[in-house]
Amino acid sequence: MKNFLYLISFVVLLLQTGTDENSFVAENVQYAADKYQKLIKAADSTKNRFPRTCNEAGDLLSTDMYDWTSGFFPGSLWYLYEATKDTSFQTAAIKWTDYLEPLKTFKDHHDLGFMMYNSFGNAFRITGDERYKSIVVESARSLSSRFSPVTGSIKSWNSFKSWGGEGVYTFPVIIDNLMNLELLFFASNHTGDSSFRKMAVSHALQTMKNHVRKDYSSFHVVCYNPQTGKVEARETGQGYANNSTWSRGQAWGIYGFTMCYRETRDPRFLKTALGMANYFIAQINKQEDKIPFWDFNANEKGYEPGKNSYANKVSIKYRDASAAAIAASALLELSRFADKKQAALYVENAKELLHLLSGGIYRSDDVKTGNFLLGKSVGSIPHKVEINVPLVYADYYFIEAMMRYQTLLKENKTNPD
Ligand code: GLY
Repeated sequence: MKNFLYLISFVVLLLQTGTDENSFVAENVQYAADKYQKLIKAADSTKNRFPRTCNEAGDLLSTDMYDWTSGFFPGSLWYLYEATKDTSFQTAAIKWTDYLEPLKTFKDHHDLGFMMYNSFGNAFRITGDERYKSIVVESARSLSSRFSPVTGSIKSWNSFKSWGGEGVYTFPVIIDNLMNLELLFFASNHTGDSSFRKMAVSHALQTMKNHVRKDYSSFHVVCYNPQTGKVEARETGQGYANNSTWSRGQAWGIYGFTMCYRETRDPRFLKTALGMANYFIAQINKQEDKIPFWDFNANEKGYEPGKNSYANKVSIKYRDASAAAIAASALLELSRFADKKQAALYVENAKELLHLLSGGIYRSDDVKTGNFLLGKSVGSIPHKVEINVPLVYADYYFIEAMMRYQTLLKENKTNPD
């Protein structure tokens, strides 16, 4: 009888936890929907400029469509339509997605995945409209024009100058670029042309070999010699120092290698995703509040910013809510591929990150977030831009993570033990 009562109270506790977490997700989706209704209005008054952040007064700051962040606003609108079934989000998502169509032939930088997969990719996933599919495929073709068989990689930027003034490189690849590979996998999956997939796999293997350190921390920028394919330098663009680990870069790595494993089932990608996730978790667990510092080695001995980096002038260890949101979303997907013990660890850490982001200093009336969801992200300290502000991509991955969490809760996979 006593055992039976224990069993009943355990089941009740589990059900209550599930219910609490479901209400937690529902409350956050409602919060996001309410704020994004206001953001749509603010964005509509800008004449096709894409929300990116806000100033100290909470006024919207926006970009043209060529900015790497232009796909996040339409992407979030698609997620909110999916989550709420409110057709006003669908109407806005269609409009803001269509504005981006000219980018399907854009070849000037590598961010086509962020721009076109988050917008048109989500549009196709949700509506099944073939027009969206053909635009995604054409965008993948444009991205693939930046692939070099010599370096085995997609060129990120057309040039990169070291913060320390050591060099200027013409084939830089940043770890973030992994995120654009989803566009290439999509194109192969939907056209049967395996060349896109081969480029994606080659790029991911090169990233694994050249960006990821033995302890699964990561370099931000790897510069290749375009004639020989040799690595000429390993540096940072947005991190603290060349030998440090920029937390958002580490989060892109977890997300990117998890996605590559989902698409290929190549165990090397899973091993790398797990290693990078474990490194990230070890770092945030050293902190009092687990929202990662903008760089895991900021202001530490043994790490020196280049002489031209603004990081030299910043003594506050800012947090980066965007890195937390990306990592939370990535850890939730990775939990599907990990063994039970690891899966439980990933879900638990993602859950903690989402709870932290949903309250206190990251989401409160005291923090100036304009019509964005989360405060306290960092765009780039070395460039002295967007320090401790809301960012549209933090919101996108926060909403995505909430939806992934909701799906796991529905499948009852948040407690694999
Ligand atoms: N390049 C994308 C980022 O700032 O994370």
